[in-house]
Amino acid sequence: MKVALASDHGGVNLLKEMKNLLEELNIEYEDFGCNCEGSVDYPDYAVPVAEKVANGEFDKGILICGTGIGMSIAANKVKGIRCALVHDVFTAKVTRQHNDTNVLAMGERVIGPGLAREIAMAWLQGEFEGGRHARRVEKISEYENK
Ligand code: RB5
Repeated sequence: MKVALASDHGGVNLLKEMKNLLEELNIEYEDFGCNCEGSVDYPDYAVPVAEKVANGEFDKGILICGTGIGMSIAANKVKGIRCALVHDVFTAKVTRQHNDTNVLAMGERVIGPGLAREIAMAWLQGEFEGGRHARRVEKISEYENK
């Protein structure tokens, strides 16, 4: 599995935590920024990561900002992206099982690093269940392709 990662200035510390976790799990990743102290615009980081997942260069993406909201809105504008904004372990697991989400967004100003690690682990290890959920995800893709 290859994971594309990025944050804005509001998510720099949690992004570092995600990189540590991926290293511990032996999961290949690439960091697309911002690695910054000054203020940047989250769409400049969300969209490139989402595009790399949508075009198959990467299997999954993780995006961090202050709340996770801006990153998730921007990522979900990219065709083929199903980005979930997640701040609890249950949702992290179920969004893989039911929604086949390919990008995870979290907010550094919302949760601490311990919970964020648990969420990312549950999400990375979660498997799509298919069946009736595949039909529902397919309906989203059909709308997107209209
Ligand atoms: C930046 O201050 C903040 O707005 C951003 O990190 C994010 O929370 C946006 O949704």
